[in-house]
Amino acid sequence: MGKVCIKMVIGLVTIVAGSQLAIASPNEADSSSADHAKGKRIFAQHCAGCHGTAGKGDGYLLLGPDPANLTRPATRTKSDAALLQTIHEGKPNMPSWKVRLSEPDSRAVLAYIRTLAK
Ligand code: HEC
Repeated sequence: MGKVCIKMVIGLVTIVAGSQLAIASPNEADSSSADHAKGKRIFAQHCAGCHGTAGKGDGYLLLGPDPANLTRPATRTKSDAALLQTIHEGKPNMPSWKVRLSEPDSRAVLAYIRTLAK
């Protein structure tokens, strides 16, 4: 019985988090797990194609600079501000995301990248 209840609670939380993502509620920043889920979804959708699902830079390789391995120390040690700037402005071979990702979305995806490096 106890187990069933826990499963139901987890199920409900998942549904609530899922619907929050869909409507991009302004208070989702309050919930770090919802943020993590959002960051993960954005990464899978927009970034993994180049950076690889684990962020190791082994996704789609183009001519020119290869997608950065986001788990390497050179990226890990950069400040949030520096990485957000790259996400906003883009790089050679990386599109600019500022018109497609809101500020909270950019922060969520950056937070997700930080978890990949661990
Ligand atoms: C079309 C391929 C492509 C896509 C899509 C892409 N990137 Fe990149 N990204 C790159 C390339 C290439 C570089 C490295 C450019 C260089 O070294 O000059 C890079 C670099 C970066 C860096 C800088 C790393 C560092 O050490 O400075 C970050 C952060 C980053 N990408 C995040 C993202 C995020 C977040 C997304 C999704 C919203 C994304 N990228 C989508 C190709 C891509």
